[in-house]
Amino acid sequence: MIDLRDLREDDCERLFLWRREREVDRWMSDGAPESLDHHQRWFDDFRGNPDRMGWIITRNAQPAGFLTLSGLNGRHRRAEWGWYIGDPEARGRGAGRAAQALGLDRAFDQLGLEKIWAQVLADNDTALKAQAAAGFRREGYMRRHVLKDGRWRDVVLLAILADEWRARRDAVLRGLAGSHLIAA
Ligand SMILES: CC(C)(COP(=O)(O)OP(=O)(O)OC[C@H]1O[C@@H](n2cnc3c(N)ncnc32)[C@H](O)[C@@H]1OP(=O)(O)O)[C@@H](O)C(=O)NCCC(=O)NCCS
Repeated sequence: MIDLRDLREDDCERLFLWRREREVDRWMSDGAPESLDHHQRWFDDFRGNPDRMGWIITRNAQPAGFLTLSGLNGRHRRAEWGWYIGDPEARGRGAGRAAQALGLDRAFDQLGLEKIWAQVLADNDTALKAQAAAGFRREGYMRRHVLKDGRWRDVVLLAILADEWRARRDAVLRGLAGSHLIAA
């Protein structure tokens, strides 16, 4: 079963290790934190920052990944989506898609947002497919937008609106419940 829980102090080191993992870092625009001290400052700022929210994705009650919304302070009722499955064992088994559905429910129903948008490296097929499955639509394409590991990378802009998620959510949740990824 996949769920989301609030961040705790003892998640700091876990996030540091996940974020530095090659399969996570290769798809992030920014570089991985170089030291635990540096990461601790980021973590403390993140937890104390009302502009951002983050949840640990759990799989069978064990930490498996991280999901974030950023830009919550703006007056436009939108936020930027960020996510990764840090536990390699959990990737490719539906955890990301299940967490995505739970996160979109929080964003639209609990936080009352109107739009969620995301920047995805253009060759990140797994993320693009997973986000399309929830109803994210392509809104733009930014050429050579990110310099990552010495290489220019293109970025796809994706977004989903509140009513688009509401139109789709029951079918998505039914599918996830049918796969025993979330409670029926
Ligand atoms: C992108 C990411 C969050 C997706 O999460 P994930 O858990 O790996 O993805 P899922 O397992 O939900 O979906 C991937 C595949 O598993 C399949 N899958 C396997 N078991 C499944 C199940 N029981 N139910 C639903 N889908 C299942 C999905 O159908 C999908 O396959 P498809 O793309 O061929 O249709 C994750 O792969 C990740 O963290 N990657 C590295 C970092 C990253 O890219 N982050 C995003 C930056 S924008």
